[in-house]
Amino acid sequence: MNSSWEIVVNGFDREKMNHTETILTIGNGYLCTRGSFAEKMEGQNVATFMHGVYDDIPVSFTELANIPNWTALQIEFGDESFRITEGKLHNMEQRLDMHAGVLSRTVDFETSSGKRAIIRFSRFASMAQRYLCAQKLEIQPINFSGTVKVVASFDGQADNLGLIHWNVCGQVVEANRAILHVKTRKTNVDVAMGMILGTDPEATIEQWNLEGHPSLCVVQDVSPERVFVLTKKVNIVTSRDSTDPVLSVNQMIGDCSGQSWEELLTSSVAVWERLWHDCDIEIDSEDDAQLIARFSIYHLLIAAPYSDEQVSIGAKTLSGYGYRGHVFWDTEIFMLPFFSFVLPDVASNLLSYRYHRLAGARKKAQLNGFDGAQFPWESAGTGEEVTPTWVPHFADPTKLVRIWTGDIQIHITADIAYALHMYWKVTGDDAFMAKRGLPIILEGAQFWVSRLEWNATESRYEIRDVIGPDENHDHVDNNTFTNFMAQWHIRLAISMAQWMAVYDHEGWKRLSARLNINEQLLTSWSEKADMIYIPQALPNGVIEQCSGFFEMEQVDLSHYAGRTRSIQEIFGIEEAAKIQVLKQADIVMLMYLFRELFPKDVIQANYDYYSPKTDHEFGSSLGPAMHSLVASWIGRKEEAYEHFMRAGQADLFDIRGNVGDGIHAASIGGIWQTIVFGFAGLIIDEIGWNVHPKLPGHWKRISFHFYYQGQRQHVEVTQEGGTDD
Ligand code: BGC
Repeated sequence: MNSSWEIVVNGFDREKMNHTETILTIGNGYLCTRGSFAEKMEGQNVATFMHGVYDDIPVSFTELANIPNWTALQIEFGDESFRITEGKLHNMEQRLDMHAGVLSRTVDFETSSGKRAIIRFSRFASMAQRYLCAQKLEIQPINFSGTVKVVASFDGQADNLGLIHWNVCGQVVEANRAILHVKTRKTNVDVAMGMILGTDPEATIEQWNLEGHPSLCVVQDVSPERVFVLTKKVNIVTSRDSTDPVLSVNQMIGDCSGQSWEELLTSSVAVWERLWHDCDIEIDSEDDAQLIARFSIYHLLIAAPYSDEQVSIGAKTLSGYGYRGHVFWDTEIFMLPFFSFVLPDVASNLLSYRYHRLAGARKKAQLNGFDGAQFPWESAGTGEEVTPTWVPHFADPTKLVRIWTGDIQIHITADIAYALHMYWKVTGDDAFMAKRGLPIILEGAQFWVSRLEWNATESRYEIRDVIGPDENHDHVDNNTFTNFMAQWHIRLAISMAQWMAVYDHEGWKRLSARLNINEQLLTSWSEKADMIYIPQALPNGVIEQCSGFFEMEQVDLSHYAGRTRSIQEIFGIEEAAKIQVLKQADIVMLMYLFRELFPKDVIQANYDYYSPKTDHEFGSSLGPAMHSLVASWIGRKEEAYEHFMRAGQADLFDIRGNVGDGIHAASIGGIWQTIVFGFAGLIIDEIGWNVHPKLPGHWKRISFHFYYQGQRQHVEVTQEGGTDD
């Protein structure tokens, strides 16, 4: 198999251990498990996260609760334990097969007393049966005969970096099966997990009913001719899916007892194949681009809620503790294009998550004194605002820093409308738009209209005291991105109302009556939208990021070459807010989202003005992909490629040093966009789709599929086919 389907990690490097655990995460859209070792290892962040399984916490309100570890396997050779840091590690290789969704690890190990064996672990989360995970352990003795003991357990003492979310409600250990039933402490979500072991008929199994730690201990004589093989099939069900998760798990482990590891794996691989058939991007080049593309798509696929419209994908997917599983605009603006174009059913689930959380958004608007629905900056189970108000200072954790994003980073409401509109344009899903899209768009517009502030001196509407995408500058007035998005959102609401009145007249009558919307009101919205202030532009078309930005002090970032920290860390939060250094794309982002509305020379002028002022290396990981896209659009192939690589290396090679906290989900969604919309130059317009390729000079070919209005499409771009320069 081509190595671009595999992530291979050789040897053991404690420094890189948490990064490796993140990138080797496996999952099936229902749950994800980090690529930690099955045996205990100090410093690992062993975790399995399931969509929707949140529990309350202080300060940050709620977080995804790390469920009891289902992967635990403790190996004993006589009286010596298998730990790679004790004895001699001859060799170790971890291999994630992204095509099949299987993680394996092969260890050539020798105990302190000289017993050498090849130990091979494999695991997958089934794409075919979402409640099923499986593990296999093979031990091949090289130079000894004797007894091997393997303890397979569930670890009910699971915590989130020290914080315990679980009460153990019950457990059963009998024959070759064990069941553990736990419940979150505050939110009362039940999780039941069952395991059934497959062993050599000669092996004996002891049942260890340790409290909160049900275990099965398998004992077997081994020799170089007699390999040890164990399979651990695990089912995990929550009270979100079943009224009696314990009963469900009991039935499921019974059902899968007759199926071999190979059969279970084959059915999972068949689903993976179908997914890749739709989602793969082929890149013919000599660099890491193919691996970067597949890695990004793989991580989107394992986090995608295939059959749950009550959940969304957090900023770190389900691969780490970062941002506590909270959902940001990262989903709608960065990840949703991938799903809308290749897996529209998942896109519809993700957008439905917002629809089902309109109550939380209405509550937020109301608490702030506004109409309609104001979506939270960070969202989780209830849809209410869950952004922490205070967090420890990055330089001195004994001090707290006030976080304002939950109060005033308000563009998210329009970002959701943008994503809905894109989904609709690509899929043509009118029924979804009418039923779920319209309420979100209209109630969002009601929020915006009530949020506008009249400036009588200037005779215009303003939006004051906000944070735009560039979070280095908070409490700013008239962030162009926010004002533009608000204006666009209100206008979209008007046109969608007109569309709905024709598409489903009766439905429109009911909806408009419920929301108190009539012709007159829509006319007043239109007048207000026309009077929203969009900050001034310089004669060359450069638009001011927010009121007062042009007057801020300029800083030459080349003087800070070789730094290992963000400009915000170097200057401090307050000083960084006074200088012209951006954490991430802001105007550049706006130009990308509305690239068909701005003349190319204006986009170019803004890119040239803002890109050198942006902290590409250590600002937000959301920035590089956006810069790559705009650079492609204006024909700067080399810069587009450089930013693409920066985005691609962020997770794979941990160039920002924080991947241990989880995958940068927005970045991987952005990477997909850089290839499809940037290098291949796919655009959707009124008459359909088209490509304007901007292939990097050393790439030979890009090929991918997507769905347009329900029909599968194929794009193949080569240098010979010509590219737009
Ligand atoms: C970025 C935001 C992003 C969040 C979660 C922040 O650092 O500035 O734009 O939504 O991370 O990824």
